[in-house]
Amino acid sequence: MSQDETVTVAEGEARASVVEGAPWWRQAAVYQIYPRSFADANGDGLGDLPGVTSRADYLERLGIDAVWLSPFYPSELADGGYDVADYRDVDPRLGTLADFDAMLDALHSRGIRVVVDIVPNHSSDRHVWFQEALAAGRGSAARERYIFRDGTGTDGAEPPSDWQSVFGGPAWERVADGQWYLHSFAVEQPDLNWSNPEVRADFVRTLRFWSDRGVDGFRIDVAHMLTKDLSEPLPSAAELELIPRDGDHPLLDRDDVHEVYAEWRAVFDSYDPPRTAVAEAWVDKARVPLYARPESLGQAFNFDLLEADFDAAQFRAVVQENLELAAASGSSSTWVLSNHDVVRHASRYGLPHPARTADGHPAQKHGSEWLLSGGTSPVLDREAGERRARAATLFVLALPGSSYLYQGEELGLHEVAEIPDAERQDPTFFRSRGAEIGRDGCRVPLPWEPSAETAFGFGSGGSHLPQPEWFGRSAVSVEEGDPDSTLSLYRRALELRHALQTAESLEWVETGRADVLRFRRPNGWEVVTNFGGSPFPLDRADAVVASVPLVEGALPADATVWFGPVALRVGAGRRPDRRSGLVPRLDGLVRDGLAS
Ligand code: GLC
Repeated sequence: MSQDETVTVAEGEARASVVEGAPWWRQAAVYQIYPRSFADANGDGLGDLPGVTSRADYLERLGIDAVWLSPFYPSELADGGYDVADYRDVDPRLGTLADFDAMLDALHSRGIRVVVDIVPNHSSDRHVWFQEALAAGRGSAARERYIFRDGTGTDGAEPPSDWQSVFGGPAWERVADGQWYLHSFAVEQPDLNWSNPEVRADFVRTLRFWSDRGVDGFRIDVAHMLTKDLSEPLPSAAELELIPRDGDHPLLDRDDVHEVYAEWRAVFDSYDPPRTAVAEAWVDKARVPLYARPESLGQAFNFDLLEADFDAAQFRAVVQENLELAAASGSSSTWVLSNHDVVRHASRYGLPHPARTADGHPAQKHGSEWLLSGGTSPVLDREAGERRARAATLFVLALPGSSYLYQGEELGLHEVAEIPDAERQDPTFFRSRGAEIGRDGCRVPLPWEPSAETAFGFGSGGSHLPQPEWFGRSAVSVEEGDPDSTLSLYRRALELRHALQTAESLEWVETGRADVLRFRRPNGWEVVTNFGGSPFPLDRADAVVASVPLVEGALPADATVWFGPVALRVGAGRRPDRRSGLVPRLDGLVRDGLAS
């Protein structure tokens, strides 16, 4: 699409034309908490649910609409909690169900909704079902809950197929009696058999369990992988690659997975208000709306910005395509710059271009290259990375749809490169024998205070992943006192976002520069991002927030500014409890944000 085209994304039938009355999730700012690394209340070095509760005021002050909690269930932590041993309980190291209820109350009473993670493709090998399957032996009903097969070759000593797991290494593991089980991820994560009605019924029970406790929604882990066609003969890995992913692939994105989600939808809709869901589905773009439809999960992650460079043309293409896809599904779009699986965006954007070129799953891959080199080749430009990250976040927070933020990005945190191999935890590191550095660098416990003595305020018992010395400079208490900090910027932007939020559409405005994007929301809220080298002169003087101070009426390189009709929306936001006093505070915020 050329820069001179002006494109308006029309509002679809199902989309909210007014923000009031629209379902909360359509344009929410959702903050992802990785519970083991957020705050540690009991001093065992592992974050916990009382830790989250203890930081409820922080979350309220941040201005987010919802929290998404990565798994907090009992787990041996073979994959950071995505190996669940009991879907309806809390890991004792993280608290109790009573602690969960207390956390839910603390967040709800502050107007913050709560989304929990459901991991249905696989359980932990410590799950009682898998233990039963091992004990019951071949041909048993217990084995039918998982995917067990006899091997090939002499005495079945070879795996049923040559498939590789996502984390590297074979996807089949042999058990004592000689059978093999399928694990698409780590050995400790046996795939469940979604052809088995008992498996389906049990997940419905889990969804009801958490819905009855009051959770507002669910994030569905690898939502495109549940159902499988394992008819014999199994195709080889090479053959699998050649099979089109059009709904009938044996392992991925099968049409029949939507039978599962239709059943879940009925469960979600039996609650008032209906529970929500968002799919993590790595599928062809054209098939994303299948997951995002109201009759399926209702919303799906769009990871395109994770894979894009900090580049005007790439950002514009991603935004345009995803708004169209969201409109086609009747859902709203989602925007993600960082999460627990990828190198933090402040670091991605600080790498020289070749290291950031997209292909496949590049954030991980290119991040790994840099991390393996210890940050010396290519050299990470921390300052540029942070500046671009602030600009990208401010751009994204103004887009129609929901923004998913990952804990620590509001502090401008970089990826932690300096984790000794012996202290790494991610199975991708071990299963790839170090070729993939893994995801530990974005999962290091948050710094709350500048002193390393209390694990930077994380807790009195140290930190389960080592925190670097430079974390102190980005501690919450340090950034809180600095009006120019990234934390102050997030707070300003999130608060303004409530005041400015408008119908789900945008109009691109011609800028005359290929490296500058500008868009306008229906109420006149306007956003300009300069992805390039030279300052961009601005023709409006009513800026409400900027990622760096404006200089003589121009927007510097790697920066974003918002212009907003603040008066228009003041007092009309979705969270009236937070609205009082907004006008005077906004005045202050605008002054602080733009003072140069
Ligand atoms: C998802 C999660 C990731 C996990 C994997 C297996 O991609 O985001 O962290 O390792 O699923 O559950």
